[in-house]
Amino acid sequence: MNDARERAELRTILLESFGANDAPTVADEWIDRMGIENVRVVRDGATVVAGLALLPMAQFFGGVPVRSSGIHAVAIDPGYRGRGVARELMRNALAESRASGAPLSTLFASTYALYRSVGYERAGATFRASVDLARIGSSRTAARHLSVRREAEGDQAQITELYREQAHARNGFLERGAFAWDRITRPARIQALHSWVVVRDRAIVGSVRWYHGPSPSKGKPAGSYYDLEIIDLVAADAEVVARILTLVADHGSLGGRAHWTSGPDDPFLLALPDRWFELALVDCWMLRLVDVEGALLARGWPKAVSGRLHLSVSDDVLPQNAKAFVLELAGGKASIEPGGDGSLKLTSRALAGLYSGYLSPTALHACGWLDGSLDQRELAAACFAGPLPWFRDRF
Ligand SMILES: CC(C)(COP(=O)(O)OP(=O)(O)OC[C@H]1O[C@@H](n2cnc3c(N)ncnc32)[C@H](O)[C@@H]1OP(=O)(O)O)[C@@H](O)C(=O)NCCC(=O)NCCS
Repeated sequence: MNDARERAELRTILLESFGANDAPTVADEWIDRMGIENVRVVRDGATVVAGLALLPMAQFFGGVPVRSSGIHAVAIDPGYRGRGVARELMRNALAESRASGAPLSTLFASTYALYRSVGYERAGATFRASVDLARIGSSRTAARHLSVRREAEGDQAQITELYREQAHARNGFLERGAFAWDRITRPARIQALHSWVVVRDRAIVGSVRWYHGPSPSKGKPAGSYYDLEIIDLVAADAEVVARILTLVADHGSLGGRAHWTSGPDDPFLLALPDRWFELALVDCWMLRLVDVEGALLARGWPKAVSGRLHLSVSDDVLPQNAKAFVLELAGGKASIEPGGDGSLKLTSRALAGLYSGYLSPTALHACGWLDGSLDQRELAAACFAGPLPWFRDRF
């Protein structure tokens, strides 16, 4: 974007597109956070009529961070909708991502149709966990010997390292960069963020941040005053998980419930003693293999699986991806050679769901998105199996 006038035009489109009754300064701050250098716009003559941000990021797959272009804040001026502007913007973004060497692209969609039409597929889910503070139960008394204190200046480097250690063992978790950490350490519109760390042998082994959200029972007789909206949770091990849950439960005299972004195998959820919690699907995130071979070579693979997958990939939007090749796994390493019999047929869109471990070959086959022999499907299931793909961030 070139100047203050263009920035003001984008600001108006953002505020209108995302339904925010905020002052323009809020949209300005938003543009600052995404980084003006990451913003791409479409102009009609000299006027900005659409925009998005291409956030440089990475996601862990098989223990390795794979570069991805995070698509953020896609917004089309209402007067220009319904004529292919968003699709064109996305095609350009994909071409730029590929040229930049990022083999993946990730986004949260407002509508699947648009993003599927350019090759994205659901590849993971985010859930909202909610539990009454009083139901955290026996973990309330656990692990109090571990000390907790408010986060202090200079702690972030250790927290980042701790987060990274946990994230690398998960599929889909973000390798958090400046944008992601900024949203956690300075969440928009939150005045009072409470950040705590757990300490063992003078090292930070846990981190939790929350703000007080209104409780649905506030004002009712014996109602709670607030809920805890937890925006990040990191723990080195099960004992730290218990200590953080205890710290959260210790707000139970006035607090009602705790909520956080979670997944079915989240240790903070698994540590709850009983079934009195809710886990609601909030959204699915979508993945695009911008460079199919690059994405397969960049990720980590299970050491125990070896074999040759004869893939035949189709891709209408990025035809460079459309080819038959053999993916060979051995000792946790992948190699690719052209050709093969192409017997495992799928679109790059279907491959995105398989890549993250979210969609099994069985599910893809049932949808008609993958075709191949049972042997090849079973081998694919073993190759792409891994922890459930989810992450705590939103972008
Ligand atoms: C959603 C949005 C980006 C679409 O922009 P657009 O320029 O009108 O989209 P396009 O004309 O390029 O449409 C491409 C495809 O997207 C889908 N699509 C577009 N608008 C849609 C809508 N409101 N609901 C469902 N699908 C939609 C259609 O499949 C369409 O293809 P088709 O017309 O061949 O069926 C635009 O309405 C917008 O800015 N909305 C507000 C903000 C938002 O939702 N941003 C996306 C955040 S992820």
